[in-house]
Amino acid sequence: MKTTITCRAAIAWKEKSPLSIEEVQVEPPKPGEVRIKMASSGICGSDAHVLKGELPLKFPFIPGHEGAGTVESVGDGVSSVKPGDKVLTLIIPQCRECDACLHSQGNFCDKQDVLPCSGVMLDGTSRFSCQGQKVYHSFRTSTFTEYTVVPEIAVVSVDAAAPMDKVCLLSCGFPTGYGAAVNSAKVTPGSTCVVFGLGGIGSAIVMGCKASGASRIIGVDINEQKFPWARALGVTDCLNPNKLRKPVHEVVMEMTGVGADFAFEAIGKVDTMVSAWNSCNKSYGVCLIVGLAPSDAQLSLESTKIISGKTLKGVCLGDYKTRDCIPQLVTDYLQDKINIDPLVTHQLPFNQLHKALELYHSGKTAGGNLDLWYLLYMSPCILMSST
Ligand SMILES: NC(=O)c1ccc[n+]([C@@H]2O[C@H](COP(=O)([O-])OP(=O)(O)OC[C@H]3O[C@@H](n4cnc5c(N)ncnc54)[C@H](O)[C@@H]3O)[C@@H](O)[C@H]2O)c1
Ligand SMILES: [Zn+2]
Ligand SMILES: [Zn+2]
Repeated sequence: MKTTITCRAAIAWKEKSPLSIEEVQVEPPKPGEVRIKMASSGICGSDAHVLKGELPLKFPFIPGHEGAGTVESVGDGVSSVKPGDKVLTLIIPQCRECDACLHSQGNFCDKQDVLPCSGVMLDGTSRFSCQGQKVYHSFRTSTFTEYTVVPEIAVVSVDAAAPMDKVCLLSCGFPTGYGAAVNSAKVTPGSTCVVFGLGGIGSAIVMGCKASGASRIIGVDINEQKFPWARALGVTDCLNPNKLRKPVHEVVMEMTGVGADFAFEAIGKVDTMVSAWNSCNKSYGVCLIVGLAPSDAQLSLESTKIISGKTLKGVCLGDYKTRDCIPQLVTDYLQDKINIDPLVTHQLPFNQLHKALELYHSGKTAGGNLDLWYLLYMSPCILMSST
């Protein structure tokens, strides 16, 4: 008989306030749901957005969506995973029934309601509570917790040999960036790319551009500490817009003569989206919007600039159909066809959650590594400690 589990989780009680680690109750999975013992979780830019209140969502909630763990129990009717399976949680589910899932080009499953950030399970309720109060999910997942419950359509089993302290990055960050380059843009050999934002997503975009044979990759970031690491990943030129005498798109135009073949925005701000758009070649340039801007932000472009032939495209999770494609990425990683190791900058125990978030926000170097990505590593033995 499945019982409620009491464990520790990080709760965001209200926007822009520190998370607090609390004892929470995690209900058993209902039909069509899966309860997971978490092993690790990455911190993604989308978590930072929701914690700042830039996307409408229900407080209190447990953040995190980029997680790896082991299935603890399943609800009735669950057939694609079983207890003991190693799994990844999916911010973008794949129901395999909706219009987007059935379309060959779609991956934004209708079961992922962006607004209000899918704080509940598919039956409209949450599986978490704290001190008798309901606590919501984030993006229908929640991974900053020792145990979580997600719908079966938002979880996928992966190779049992997968290192659980790293592969969480294959649940969102790596596929989002890498897929934006290889699937959505289809970056061509010899092309010029410009990547706005060199965080976790931007770094994975750079890796995808490099793997596709781009000959020039211009990286743009206001944090110059990202530059040496970005160069190691394949960036050929680094620009800090705060240190330029003219707008960054004008500099890109001068550097390339004709504009970039491919421009990627991986920050989540409308002004950098416009800069990316203006950095593209006017006739055949392709601008990919990967960053998630605040929900009330409007993107405004000069309308005459689009008829010259350039393309503006939004990208959701690298255009991967998540349950179909992510297990293969894990296998590719195990077979050294892709490498996520350079994206891991820190592995911290769950009880150092605040330190992990501090590192993420500061973007400073630590321990000789450049902070591109902060991984919150939740080792079971440390989880059980009283610290
Ligand atoms: N489309 C999707 O499916 C999808 C999936 C995951 C994340 N995202 C979004 O991608 C974006 C990036 O996520 P991340 O995890 O890499 O975040 P991150 O915080 O790790 O990286 C953002 C980078 O942008 C830089 N930056 C900030 N303001 C800047 C500016 N004005 N000019 C230049 N650089 C600037 C920062 O220094 C940082 O290096 C976020 O908006 C996130 O929500 C989208
Ligand atoms: Zn994410
Ligand atoms: Zn669907």
